[in-house]
Amino acid sequence: MLNTSEKVKKSISELKNQIIAEQQKINKICPPEQGKEKRLEERLEQIAQQRGRAMAYPYLSDGEGFGPFTKLIDGSVKYDLIGGIGVQLMGHSHPLLVEANLEAATVDCLYSGNLMPYDDIRLLMDTLLGQIKESRLEHFWFTGSGTYANDTALKLLWQKKDPAYKIIAFKKCFTGRSVATQDITDKAAYRQGMPKAVDVEHVPHFDPRNPEGSLQITLNALEEVWNKAPGQYAAITLELVQGEGGLTFGTKEYYEGIFEWAKAKGLYIWVDEVQTFARTRRLFAFQHFGLEKYVDIVTVGKALQCCGLFYTEELNPKPGLIAGTFHAAIPALKAGNKFVRHLTEEGFYGENGKIAQLEKSFLKRMAALANKQGKERIPLFHGIGTMQAFEVGDASADITKKFSMLLMKKGVITYMAGDNPTRVRMLLPIVLEEQHLDEIFKLIDETIEELFT
Ligand SMILES: Cc1ncc(COP(=O)(O)O)c(C=O)c1O
Repeated sequence: MLNTSEKVKKSISELKNQIIAEQQKINKICPPEQGKEKRLEERLEQIAQQRGRAMAYPYLSDGEGFGPFTKLIDGSVKYDLIGGIGVQLMGHSHPLLVEANLEAATVDCLYSGNLMPYDDIRLLMDTLLGQIKESRLEHFWFTGSGTYANDTALKLLWQKKDPAYKIIAFKKCFTGRSVATQDITDKAAYRQGMPKAVDVEHVPHFDPRNPEGSLQITLNALEEVWNKAPGQYAAITLELVQGEGGLTFGTKEYYEGIFEWAKAKGLYIWVDEVQTFARTRRLFAFQHFGLEKYVDIVTVGKALQCCGLFYTEELNPKPGLIAGTFHAAIPALKAGNKFVRHLTEEGFYGENGKIAQLEKSFLKRMAALANKQGKERIPLFHGIGTMQAFEVGDASADITKKFSMLLMKKGVITYMAGDNPTRVRMLLPIVLEEQHLDEIFKLIDETIEELFT
């Protein structure tokens, strides 16, 4: 982009405006277009055949969408409240995304890599590291996925603590699906038939139904786990807001209690922010909870548009341990940098920032809905920043899926999280406005009525 001529720059600007003008036409929900009703089902069937397994959700797009709206292949338009499980924090066709894609089109290749890096990695790392000066995190390493960021974190920790290889994680956590992270992820169904690669112990996370007692319960479990193999643990890993686990999150005091315990035992603190990055009232959830002094290693992905890990100088590995072909695709690096700069420079964070306002507005509506529908129908709701969840009826997987499917038919895409209880999960785009929320809550209300009558 540096050497792009004025003529190309002007064309990019014109093209950007034209693309946005086209995409902006996707601005309200609507049912499938006449004649295209069967298209979604047919194409998903073909994909199921090709991959040997059906998709989880009846969704397929060929790239049209604007703000919170996404257009499906059958011509229907829906609110997207899950954003590719957290990737689309900026909504669809955000001007900065269009700009990043067009600028990247002028670059001579698609990917930056470890052997032949492109300057975009320096620019992005500069932006990111500039945001965490009050922590001890000094370095960043790009990885191809959130899972691989966690795998790499594990390698750094193992090398440093060799031969203390055991890991402490939290019940219901999700860290990914690699050979290593499938053992840390607390779900037996995700590792059926797999040999064990990592020695992990799981302790209970915060319980929103027992906020006062949660810390002691976790500390008791930690002591019990430690006493089984004192000195053999390398680190404790956790999501400060559990994604797959049902959007469970604790308090500053809860996390401080755990981290003080971990530090006293000489454990490194590894925070998985693959989902939480950019979604709380601060850029990082560890900043939101004021835990800067504790974190040793932090993994990110999703909303950043690329993935990787931050670590302290102490954890900087020996030469040879980490490498790989790719950093990320150049449009992703450019978009990630533009997004983070926009979010941190344009008033999104802080107690009165745009994310706090969206959170407040969403939770206010949620409280009114729960009050109207009653405890039997909405027994629990909670959320932080752009991550929101609620329970429907007995919070079984069955009723939650039925609810989500009905709501999707009406024009709102959500997803599920957790087992026993299962919750409706939303990872909101920051482009939601008041009139969108009004319509979304009207549709949620109607769906609940339909489900229970
Ligand atoms: C907390 C957390 N860690 C790790 C991952 C894995 O990331 P990826 O799917 O990019 O490999 C996810 C994905 O959902 C996640 O939510």
